[in-house]
Amino acid sequence: MRLGVLTGGGDCPGLNALIRGLVKRGTHEFGYEFVGIENGYMGLVEPELARPLTEEDTRGILPKGGTILGTSNKANPFAYATREDGHWVERDVSDQVLRRCEELRLDGLIAVGGDGTLSIAHRLVEKGLKVVGCPKTIDNDLSGTDQTFGFDTARLIVTEALDRLHSTAESHDRVMVVEIMGRHAGFLTLESGIAGGADVILIPEIPYRVESVVEKLHRRATRRRSFSIIAISEGAFPQGGQLAVLDSAEAIPGRGVVRLGGSGKVLADLLARHIEAEIRVTVLGHLQRGGSPSAADRVLATRYGCKVLDLVSAGQWDHMVALRAGEIISVPLSESRKERRVDPSGELVRFTKSMGISFGD
Ligand code: F6P
Repeated sequence: MRLGVLTGGGDCPGLNALIRGLVKRGTHEFGYEFVGIENGYMGLVEPELARPLTEEDTRGILPKGGTILGTSNKANPFAYATREDGHWVERDVSDQVLRRCEELRLDGLIAVGGDGTLSIAHRLVEKGLKVVGCPKTIDNDLSGTDQTFGFDTARLIVTEALDRLHSTAESHDRVMVVEIMGRHAGFLTLESGIAGGADVILIPEIPYRVESVVEKLHRRATRRRSFSIIAISEGAFPQGGQLAVLDSAEAIPGRGVVRLGGSGKVLADLLARHIEAEIRVTVLGHLQRGGSPSAADRVLATRYGCKVLDLVSAGQWDHMVALRAGEIISVPLSESRKERRVDPSGELVRFTKSMGISFGD
């Protein structure tokens, strides 16, 4: 077997651990050969972005963040953006991808990514390509799996940031608003908000009322604690209000989704009309995606990388690996297209509310 491997979408800690597990087990136990495809699907469209991927290449990469293969969240072969006569044009180059896989003599492709990368993988299977998927994202918003790797590391980074902001918030009696990634899912904000002791947690699944947040801040102030920590998702928005968007889906050719950002500033401006306390906004941004993976993410990514080979050897194409109740299993790739969101009436939200933490509802 000769297998292509690509990492697509936004990077996250643990991708290299996965590549290492895959190549090591694939080489030792199965005698497979690997071809590294660079920059996501771009590597199957543009020339000279494919190279042999051997065990030697995976030496020392386990603790490294990012991906040794590079990635792209703009290279969709079904709407591939190129510049022609000074304008961006999107074309379907999926047939070219199939031809390139033939030229590279690939028996199958392993696509590691989030919902975008995995939906493209499913569409390529429909065109006849043999693909196995592997879920990753710090957002943890993929249906079909209990957890994606990258999430644990990001949760640690945000928790540490909240811990650090606590001490300075307390010294200065400030309200600290911390904007956290996660796109339209609140898992990262909810779990790191709990772990980091946030007083208010605002997530996309529960649109907030400013009055309710103000009430909570006032309640704290009367208990001689005028500082507060507010953890807010980049995808959170006020009731009757709108998402805070950096640019539209069309602004970045080939990307196809809006870029979120600014929810913290929106909230701070709304709060400033009601409270005296000084408000400061911290946007954690890409710090949440960088750096070395946690031990838990290294283990999960390694398990995913090894399990992929069971699917390949069983000819279980059009499936992805997934974590369910502690076991690594396989599920149809189409599962990744279903959205996974925080359940506003689920246990974690209920328990958190019962401790007096506000969700602004
Ligand atoms: O999906 C991972 C993620 O980090 C989101 O949380 C965030 O909205 C997005 O990617 C940012 O993407 P980019 O790095 O392309 O701006």
